[in-house]
Amino acid sequence: MTTHEFLPDTARQAPGSPADDSAPSGRVDPAPPPHTTRVDLTGRTALVTGAAGGIGRACALRLSAAGADVRLADIDGPALAELAEQGVGEAVQLDLTDLDAAEAAARGADIVVNNAGVQTVSPVQDFPPERFSLILRLMVESPFRVVRGALPHMYERGWGRVVNISSVHGLRASAYKSAYVAAKHGLEGFSKVVALEGAPHGVTSNCVNPGYVRTALVERQIADQAEAHGIPEEQVVSEVLLARSPVKRLIEPYEVAEMVAYLCSDDASFVNGASLPIDGAWSSS
Ligand SMILES: NC(=O)c1ccc[n+]([C@@H]2O[C@H](COP(=O)([O-])OP(=O)(O)OC[C@H]3O[C@@H](n4cnc5c(N)ncnc54)[C@H](O)[C@@H]3O)[C@@H](O)[C@H]2O)c1
Repeated sequence: MTTHEFLPDTARQAPGSPADDSAPSGRVDPAPPPHTTRVDLTGRTALVTGAAGGIGRACALRLSAAGADVRLADIDGPALAELAEQGVGEAVQLDLTDLDAAEAAARGADIVVNNAGVQTVSPVQDFPPERFSLILRLMVESPFRVVRGALPHMYERGWGRVVNISSVHGLRASAYKSAYVAAKHGLEGFSKVVALEGAPHGVTSNCVNPGYVRTALVERQIADQAEAHGIPEEQVVSEVLLARSPVKRLIEPYEVAEMVAYLCSDDASFVNGASLPIDGAWSSS
């Protein structure tokens, strides 16, 4: 159910709050501020990959606050344990490049959020081939196996939600990100096929396409580029990362999670096969 009422939730965190991704660990998420989207996912089981940090963590918090039983899948055991201790969900520690394990983790899920991802920045001629393979394995093959594991249960129940955390880089390219851009474009195509096959069974599949989000993945890129170009990190953000974004700020993880929550609602049943930018109009240019 989705209405424009407010529902308490733990996913919306101001930067620097105890739940901010740059904050030290050992935190307890504070009392939640209100949300714009009311979603009741009571009785639903949701698998979130890459749930220990960044966008995945925000999605896990958001879906848990909406009443879902959340499976927190990540390779980072300690961060998972911390979330599980807070009652956000059940920790499932695994390496998602273990494709059989990824498929098994998704069995019985009503909702899957394919989120785990990594980045490598390098010119094509220098790009390590084994790293290219790993990125496609983690960000295309693993989502395929997760969905493959979840669909039989979704079809049986006549209801399911697949949300793929793509990127502006699923719609646009940037130099030096060949594996990432290839993976996200691949994920986009896969998502649309699932949308077509799932439609008669009450299953939707959509992509969410953020610009730069304030997470560890981006903070690593900022630090690397500052070092490579010999410029301050603030300059990397304003002149490199946000050069093509008309809205000149990073996105917060909760802003992505809010869109994910909406896509998981019953009201979003006609949103299928879509790619929804959250990019401050970057992809409009
Ligand atoms: N941060 C951004 O600006 C941005 C923008 C658009 C899209 N995205 C996408 O959002 C997703 C999440 O990115 P983020 O910025 O939150 O990253 P992040 O680095 O903050 O978090 C990624 C999570 O995935 C987990 N992970 C990585 N490899 C794994 C593996 N092999 N097995 C299990 N878990 C693994 C990590 O432990 C981590 O918890 C990615 O798919 C990324 O491409 C991010």
